[in-house]
Amino acid sequence: MADKHGPIFTIKSGSKKTIILSNWEIAKECFTTNDLAVSTRPTKLVANENLSYNGAMFGFAPYGPYWRQIRKIVTLELLSNRRIEQLSHIRVSEVQASVKDLYSVWCNNNRNEEYVLVEMKNWFAKLIFNMVFRMLVGKRCFGFGGVGNNDDDKGNRCLEIIREFMNLLGVFTVGDVVPFVRWLDFGGHEKAMKKTAKELDEILDELLSEHRQKRRRSLDENDEKDFMDVMVSVFDDATRIDGFDADNVIKATTLAMITGATDTTTVTLTWAMCLLLRNPHTLRKAKEELHTQIGKERCILESDLSKLPYLQAIIKETLRLYPPSPLGVHREFTEDCILGGYQIEKGTRLITNLWKIHTDSCVWSDPLEFKPERFHTTHKNIDVKGHNFELLPFGSGRRVCPAISFGFQMVHFILANFLHSFEILNPSPELVDIDGTLGINHVKTTPLEILVKPCLIPNCYETM
Ligand code: HEM
Repeated sequence: MADKHGPIFTIKSGSKKTIILSNWEIAKECFTTNDLAVSTRPTKLVANENLSYNGAMFGFAPYGPYWRQIRKIVTLELLSNRRIEQLSHIRVSEVQASVKDLYSVWCNNNRNEEYVLVEMKNWFAKLIFNMVFRMLVGKRCFGFGGVGNNDDDKGNRCLEIIREFMNLLGVFTVGDVVPFVRWLDFGGHEKAMKKTAKELDEILDELLSEHRQKRRRSLDENDEKDFMDVMVSVFDDATRIDGFDADNVIKATTLAMITGATDTTTVTLTWAMCLLLRNPHTLRKAKEELHTQIGKERCILESDLSKLPYLQAIIKETLRLYPPSPLGVHREFTEDCILGGYQIEKGTRLITNLWKIHTDSCVWSDPLEFKPERFHTTHKNIDVKGHNFELLPFGSGRRVCPAISFGFQMVHFILANFLHSFEILNPSPELVDIDGTLGINHVKTTPLEILVKPCLIPNCYETM
């Protein structure tokens, strides 16, 4: 449609107009000159009403004092460099535990030092869920009884509910465009949303009461605090925050962080692996960098990441070709304004066609080719922080992702560790398939099965 109708055009679904924006110059005009006018999210969507604690999840909240207050707390208290640094040991121990797990799978299945077949989408998801859960709520997702306890049934159910939640967030319901037939609930989506929201709320409720009890028991300032501890202490005496119940604000903010952090990073790692397997020369160069910089006799630390610029370029190139949300996250205009020479009415929704911007042949040579080298040559000054409008995987403007450095670092660290610890091969003579399904995020449809074999000295895995 963008090829046919140009870099800015309108579609109409029901009574709602939506602008589709598909080039970087207009994106720049949108997220600089007009940013304030387009910093709210559509709040009247069926999914928002049912899944976002009535708007208390700040990622879906309208632009205003409540959103500003929570975003400020999240940025200063939860995503500050100091807090991220304090939780470094969790990221390291979770990555090492997962690498060790994979090594055990290889040891248990292997007598001839051969490769073993593993499914990577699930491996990445479990690792990320455990890592994110420990940082946010102090315990693993897989192993609800505490770190080290492998309560996989509960973990799998939790992962399923969050996946269901993400799927439902991306669902198009008839009620969104023809509100007067909403009550008919075609497809049963609204019923499913209520059920998923209730199940998730029960999990978050249990976690919140544990955190409140812990706070009552110990007030030692030196105790390590997870994200939920911080929220509980910030809102200690408050019963209501901007009209919302304090408990709901804490649960909603924790959920916003869990859902923001897990799917996006899992999806990025999965696509990065697909691209590396389809481009063996890039994989070879990445391995060379790892072995020159780190060697085969020790594990990678977070402080090593700055020595791995090629791997960083691989992640940027993956985010260019496979932004987790190829159509951005919806916004809505709260004022009339002019964009690309056109008059835009207040109330119009905005979809930013990130994929189209990222593959514009006026900006990117061989736009559909996977060429990480471009970030060391022709595009070496382009970063992903939302100021270079040619590359916006984390969005831009006031509503830009608040966790850019953190998200980028997580992906970089996990990919570096996995590639450093294992030789990998495509099990099939055919290219790895890249079929995707588009919901709120663009996920690989089929499992990602690959062959792996350890490549460090055994001591590295044994001491992890
Ligand atoms: C590869 C990793 C990630 C990508 C590509 C990504 C991408 C995005 C995008 C495109 C948006 C919408 C921005 C806009 O409207 O302009 C967003 C918002 C958001 N992201 Fe991320 N994200 C990532 C990681 C994370 C992580 C690790 C967290 C949490 C720790 C997180 C939390 C959020 C939240 C809470 C919002 C909503 C912000 C608001 O509405 O004010 N994201 N992200």
